[in-house]
Amino acid sequence: MIAQTLKWIGDVDGFLELIDQRLLPGEFVKLQCRDTEQLYDAIKTLAVRGAPAIGVAAAYGLVLGMQKLTEVDDLERGIEVLSKSCEYLGSSRPTAVNLFWALNRLRKRAEEFVAVKPEAKLQALREAVLTEANAIYQEDVEMCRRIGENGQKFITDGSGILTHCNAGALATAGQGTALSPMFEAFKKGRKFKVYSDETRPLLQGARLTAWELKQAGIEVVVICDNMAGWLMKQGHISTVITGADRIAANGDTANKIGTYSLSILARENGIPFYIAAPSSTFDLSITNGDEIPIEQRAAEEVTTFGGSPGKTQIAPEGVKVYNPAFDVTDASKITAIITEKGVIEKPDTESISKHLRS
Ligand code: MRU
Repeated sequence: MIAQTLKWIGDVDGFLELIDQRLLPGEFVKLQCRDTEQLYDAIKTLAVRGAPAIGVAAAYGLVLGMQKLTEVDDLERGIEVLSKSCEYLGSSRPTAVNLFWALNRLRKRAEEFVAVKPEAKLQALREAVLTEANAIYQEDVEMCRRIGENGQKFITDGSGILTHCNAGALATAGQGTALSPMFEAFKKGRKFKVYSDETRPLLQGARLTAWELKQAGIEVVVICDNMAGWLMKQGHISTVITGADRIAANGDTANKIGTYSLSILARENGIPFYIAAPSSTFDLSITNGDEIPIEQRAAEEVTTFGGSPGKTQIAPEGVKVYNPAFDVTDASKITAIITEKGVIEKPDTESISKHLRS
């Protein structure tokens, strides 16, 4: 069974229920977010994470933000509160473009609603915002499924697939991006093995990808990040598939730190390197990867181990640390990008623009 990572419960006065990914795989706990502050904290601390899931969560965060409005407030005040929530939630994490994509889409929808129905009641605006958030959720489910269908052909009997971080159901509203082709290939009865990089410092590969694949009955082997090159050299890896947090117009792709190194190792070893991502992960406003903001995270994530409580100090207290959460893989190192619309072979500005318009 595929995990349901996020679920809106109730009507406009409802709340967002999330699987608290900080606690997996040890504990399976649902977290209830009842205001934007709580949701901001859930995104910031990675209770909910993965580019598409962050976008969907933020969309519902705007619904939560509008719950502060009262009967005396009008549509203008509604738009003002929604815009403030957009800015606030948009400051939670900078790299995954799905966050900004979802916030902008909802803001635009709300403004259109007010332009078309200036006499409407505030309640109707709140309902329109929830309807749009639900649409983003449903579209993500569908995009994930199609990515799986389009990518399953790259997984054949005997394949050894390497993946990094977690781009599965836990990172989306649906069955994931990079893991979706694996779920589809598995349904078709293909026999393959997945190697999951543990993905330091926060171990999304060891904790989340391994948990998801194991639950689905797919053979998964966890490796430390520094083992990938050697496994490739020894012939264990036939394909690399990862997700993405932001793809520039030319195909340069930001994903979890360590992805760039894998692309180089794959190229050196003659192994195809695929990115799986929905259209909402493309940022055509930036020409190349140099413009992608890279999130820097706390030193403590590197110097301690095992989460809180139960943290173990593994580097000297006060030592200098560099902790970028993402890196950028040049388009030239990507064999193809798998989207819900199909496959972009040898991605570049022209092929991407043509594909997204199709
Ligand atoms: O810091 P995280 O856990 O949010 O990083 C997630 C990733 O890098 C994923 O690979 C990416 O968001 C794609 S998720 C479908």
